[in-house]
Amino acid sequence: MDDLKIAIAGLGTVGGGTVTLLHRHADLLSARVGRRLRLVACAALEKPANLALDAIPFYSDARVMAKDADYDVLVELIGGSSGIALDVVTTALGRGRHVVTANKAMVAHHGQKLAELAEQAGVTFGFEAAVAGGIPVIKALREGLAANRLSQVYGILNGTCNYILTTMRETGREFADVLAEAQALGYAEADPSFDIDGVDTAHKLSILTSLAFGTVVDFAKVHVEGIRHVSAFDIRSAEELGYRIKLLGIARRTEDGIEQRVHPCMVPIRSSIGCVEGVFNAVVAEGDFIGRTLFEGRGAGATPTASAVVADILDIAAGRRTPTFGLPAKALAPLQVAPMEQHRGAFYIRLTVLDRPGVFADIAAALRDEEVSMEAILQRARAPGETVPVVMTVHDTLERSMTRAVERISAIGEVVEPPHLIRIEAF
Ligand SMILES: NC(=O)c1ccc[n+]([C@@H]2O[C@H](COP(=O)([O-])OP(=O)(O)OC[C@H]3O[C@@H](n4cnc5c(N)ncnc54)[C@H](OP(=O)(O)O)[C@@H]3O)[C@@H](O)[C@H]2O)c1
Repeated sequence: MDDLKIAIAGLGTVGGGTVTLLHRHADLLSARVGRRLRLVACAALEKPANLALDAIPFYSDARVMAKDADYDVLVELIGGSSGIALDVVTTALGRGRHVVTANKAMVAHHGQKLAELAEQAGVTFGFEAAVAGGIPVIKALREGLAANRLSQVYGILNGTCNYILTTMRETGREFADVLAEAQALGYAEADPSFDIDGVDTAHKLSILTSLAFGTVVDFAKVHVEGIRHVSAFDIRSAEELGYRIKLLGIARRTEDGIEQRVHPCMVPIRSSIGCVEGVFNAVVAEGDFIGRTLFEGRGAGATPTASAVVADILDIAAGRRTPTFGLPAKALAPLQVAPMEQHRGAFYIRLTVLDRPGVFADIAAALRDEEVSMEAILQRARAPGETVPVVMTVHDTLERSMTRAVERISAIGEVVEPPHLIRIEAF
């Protein structure tokens, strides 16, 4: 069979890893699909000196490569939800060429349109590397679990956040301190907001939701909260209560629609997701025939992400094709998202309170009036007349009731800081 001709746009972390993998495993890859995978063009702002690219035509303008080069597959590894990445991808699809990308931001914002373009052209739009790096979770949801009706998919989808939360727990240090160290070590970006504010997790979750529930990718409907407000105190308290704090993306089928939410969660220490530490990612899917299944591994980095990119290229080389999001693009349903105020779950509440007689009775009354039932209370030290941190957990309740109870508690004179909530998930 003819060689599969590959053009790569972007030669940074993932692009470099992909070039290295194609080179190092050339014989293994061709044995798997019965044809050679041949790099025929590459593009970046500058040609990196450390990659074996001497004989490969280099383009300093990726748009020109996408438009003019002779390739079968364009691999987009530049990044960004639109701009040049979207331009080169739409150009390639418009020319009837396959596309592979690791770009979750672009898939989250333009996945539906790109899936339609790919289908019209009869080509593949592959994005295995866009979610959870090296973990083959796209293929698992779209193909391996396709026989199931899924009830939920959730996971730790951002290694930077999981590294920060793990290090905070292990060292007892505060968020800002650990973030600064992660930046110095290169584990967090100079501008870390996409990671720590939950946006990156939300991009990935919106893709998982589509695959799990056969709905259009709808990033705008993700409820997003990040980890900036998680304190060392919260992490210690969680530990005492038998929980770990994780930033989770959760997509769950409910009677009110599909919940699609990203926020810090307390999960039981011994739950499978609670044990996933450091830069590792994990995704759990629950289906009616499979039950619960967990995928864990490296969610980023040059080699794991290249592994996923090349897996998509192999499918193309072998002629294996499935609809982009598991169903024909036109058959994907609009996402009926469940309103957050209808969410039901348990909560952790951290209060800073002036320790005066009667204040706890007032807090308990605020909860009772909104039909919120307290489960446990931890008061670290009694210092009459001084402020003390107080931690409570409450049983499953409606988010709306919890919000109202918190408003009432905030109005109590002795509550000196806004109450801080973390949802508890009993996985
Ligand atoms: N890094 C990871 O672990 C990881 C994991 C999963 C998914 N991803 C996704 O993979 C994609 C690439 O990430 P990365 O970490 O590899 O990024 P990166 O290291 O910053 O590399 C980006 C590459 O794109 C090139 N580039 C930037 N602007 C360009 C332009 N206008 N024209 C041509 N080339 C241009 C850069 O060229 P110069 O080097 O010459 O500036 C560089 O080679 C992103 O969508 C990211 O979200 C990354």
